[in-house]
Amino acid sequence: MRRFHRMLMYTNRKPTRSPPPSPTNDDQSDAHQDDLSLAGSARRRFLLGSGVLTGGLAAARYAGAAAPSIAESRDAPATSRSVGAARPVRLTVNQHDYVVDLEPRVTLLDALREYLGLTGTKKGCDRGQCGACTVLVDGRRVNSCLTLAMACEGQPITTVEGLAGETALHPVQQAFIEHDGFQCGYCTPGQICSAVALLGELRAGDPSAVTTDLARMPVEITDDELRERMSGNICRCGAYAGIVAALRQALQHG
Ligand code: FES
Ligand code: FES
Repeated sequence: MRRFHRMLMYTNRKPTRSPPPSPTNDDQSDAHQDDLSLAGSARRRFLLGSGVLTGGLAAARYAGAAAPSIAESRDAPATSRSVGAARPVRLTVNQHDYVVDLEPRVTLLDALREYLGLTGTKKGCDRGQCGACTVLVDGRRVNSCLTLAMACEGQPITTVEGLAGETALHPVQQAFIEHDGFQCGYCTPGQICSAVALLGELRAGDPSAVTTDLARMPVEITDDELRERMSGNICRCGAYAGIVAALRQALQHG
């Protein structure tokens, strides 16, 4: 430690030998300035020359390799990045049938929002991490950003727009309102769809990662059980306490 301290002191010491020359008279100063400007202009010439050279080489390489003739580009075969042509896809959403022309790569989330105008389903991360895009496909919750629309042909899809009845909200929607299960509301459609599926999973006796007694039917519903089952749905506003309370109410009524 003391050695390190000494080293620090050493590096902080002011130089005592060979100080930079200070201008003492005008002739010496002018000569020094001339030296500097000559050296500077030489360096600039070098940089300009090398820049032109490397830029020219790169441009020549690019021109030689990447510019196919018009005839070549017309005859080029389709590459492996070709994504396939659009074709009519029949989707049944909220008990309505739609036929839309979709490329194979279109996700269910984009099909719902961009093609069908059902914007209740939200795009958060678009990579399966936040749950904002959760919808029900054949009664099971899925991240629609990770699901291809074509894979859902022939299966009933339910979004948040399809949960309410003619005259009343779905019990889960009502419970979210009564228990302040949201603030900004961006995650809420996904939370509600997830919660609706969760009720079905509990009724079916599906265990979760924190279920301790697998033989017990029905599954004991603790707060930990509810939190674990909703852990795929992130709420950036932190409305989790209200969401758990809403789930408990929906369970009693459902
Ligand atoms: S948008 Fe799908 S999980 Fe986040
Ligand atoms: S209510 Fe704002 S992100 Fe959940």
